[in-house]
Amino acid sequence: MTLIPHSRPSLGPEELRAVTEVIQSGQITGGPVVAQFERGMAAYIGLHGGVAVSSGTVALELALRALGVGHGDNVILPSYVCSAPWLAVQRVGAQARLVDINPITYNLDPHKVRKARTSRTRAVIVPHMFGLPADLTSLQALEIPLIEDCAHTLGATEQGRAVGSVGTLTVCSFYATKLLCTGEGGMVLSNDEALLERIRALREYDKAPSLNAGAGNSKLTDLQAAIGVAQLNQLGEFLDKRSTLAGLYRDTLPAEMFTLPAVPAGRTHVYYRFVVRLMKGLQSPDEFTDYLSRLAHRGLQCRKPVFRPLHRYLELPDFPCSDEVDESAISLPLHPSLTEDAIRQAAQILQEELR
Ligand SMILES: Cc1ncc(COP(=O)(O)O)c(C=O)c1O
Repeated sequence: MTLIPHSRPSLGPEELRAVTEVIQSGQITGGPVVAQFERGMAAYIGLHGGVAVSSGTVALELALRALGVGHGDNVILPSYVCSAPWLAVQRVGAQARLVDINPITYNLDPHKVRKARTSRTRAVIVPHMFGLPADLTSLQALEIPLIEDCAHTLGATEQGRAVGSVGTLTVCSFYATKLLCTGEGGMVLSNDEALLERIRALREYDKAPSLNAGAGNSKLTDLQAAIGVAQLNQLGEFLDKRSTLAGLYRDTLPAEMFTLPAVPAGRTHVYYRFVVRLMKGLQSPDEFTDYLSRLAHRGLQCRKPVFRPLHRYLELPDFPCSDEVDESAISLPLHPSLTEDAIRQAAQILQEELR
């Protein structure tokens, strides 16, 4: 039985060379390579600058701190996302207001954001889920500061605009299996130099004349940034490969069994994940769990796209779209090192195990 892994970093000679050069330089903590990575990411998205940090979760926390969000404030975020955005809101002492998603795009529903806003809403965290930009146009019209969470999505566009270029602040994650990885790592980017300067003062202690309890040590190292620069140079190739493999899934999976990822007009998808939903009635929630284990038995590593929606952790009612997606969505193997044969094999197993 051959294993078809769900996700895997794409690392090769470029990364090895870049890391070796940093080691030979003797300067391994944050230095010129971090600065180069920050400039490269800002140029890629089309923003003024970026501040590299130790993770995407830290990037979210520092973005909120830079906006002055704290006790008595609330921040809107979707229920269908990993717990990192919720944790960042807790860290700054604000209240998280969860809203349901659009079950077709898996992204925040702007109408529900409008309903959830209060006079104390200071920001909306907008994760662009699985490679598809959220409806930035409708969200922008609400005139609440947006923190674009690009942990899943780089290189996609919404109405011709690069994802990450629209919000007040943008955060990235460079965790090992992300579109672009550094092992662990993150970045906050913006066109607003004053906000970036605040984040620089928060990521490193003894950077400001007065003590700030929100500051800490959240730096990225040159070793990590060297991998990031090498990955950024290959990001176009990585995205092309993902797009080819996604096209193959689209050609192979029958529409009467699987709902394939939607790409609304005016948006592009970069397929960080290829998330499908089983057509209604094919499996009950219990059978769905069983289906996932049968796939694993055949060597096909599929995952629930979100480990546990936030409202389920928090035991909050009335998130019907998140529930519906949670009970029927599967993330299929997709990463640049997968072969086309592996995709065909995966598609076959997915159909066989449904019968
Ligand atoms: C949407 C989203 N935001 C933030 C994060 C947190 O990133 P990190 O794991 O680098 O802390 C993740 C993690 O995968 C994520 O999926």
